[in-house]
Amino acid sequence: MKVSKVLIEQNEIEQKVKELAERINKDYSGEELVIVGILKGAFIVISDLAKQLNVDVTFEFMSIQSYEGTKSTGQIKIDKDLDIDITGKNILIVEDIFDTGLTISHLKNLLESRNPKSIEILCMFIKKDVASEPVDIKYSGFEIGPEFVVGYGLDYEGKYRELPFLGVLS
Ligand code: IMP
Ligand code: MG
Repeated sequence: MKVSKVLIEQNEIEQKVKELAERINKDYSGEELVIVGILKGAFIVISDLAKQLNVDVTFEFMSIQSYEGTKSTGQIKIDKDLDIDITGKNILIVEDIFDTGLTISHLKNLLESRNPKSIEILCMFIKKDVASEPVDIKYSGFEIGPEFVVGYGLDYEGKYRELPFLGVLS
């Protein structure tokens, strides 16, 4: 397996993160925001986004798994839950990629049951297929094809997360 092509260049990603940050700054102006990052994949987008936010924000992390190798297992497993109470808070879930939507929809339901004030989703790469769960993603980065991608936080067996672009692995 190796990175056979660059799908989205570093500068396109940077521009998109800037646009998303501007929208978040506008939408949460005067509000408190809790960003809930989904580890491990979202760590890069969160650190890029963080530097451009000027709202009253805190960062929390959850660790969830649904993939083994290049296949979704169809189940999600919470490895690390939040350590704060989110009742009455504005929550923005930040996820790296939407594939079947299982992770995001399950997570959104779980966090909604804890009575936050609001809950929205930011997802950098959207790989919607026919079988995907209908989930409303307010802040979306790029729509991509069905190929397995790596880089910008996304891995194949733990590797390639550090690449500053999105690449196709084959
Ligand atoms: P979903 O639950 O099927 O939407 O899958 C979402 C999770 O699967 C993401 O958080 C990623 O960890 C992983 N994933 C899905 N597609 C890819 C891919 O193309 N490359 C790397 N990881 C992926
Ligand atoms: Mg992930």
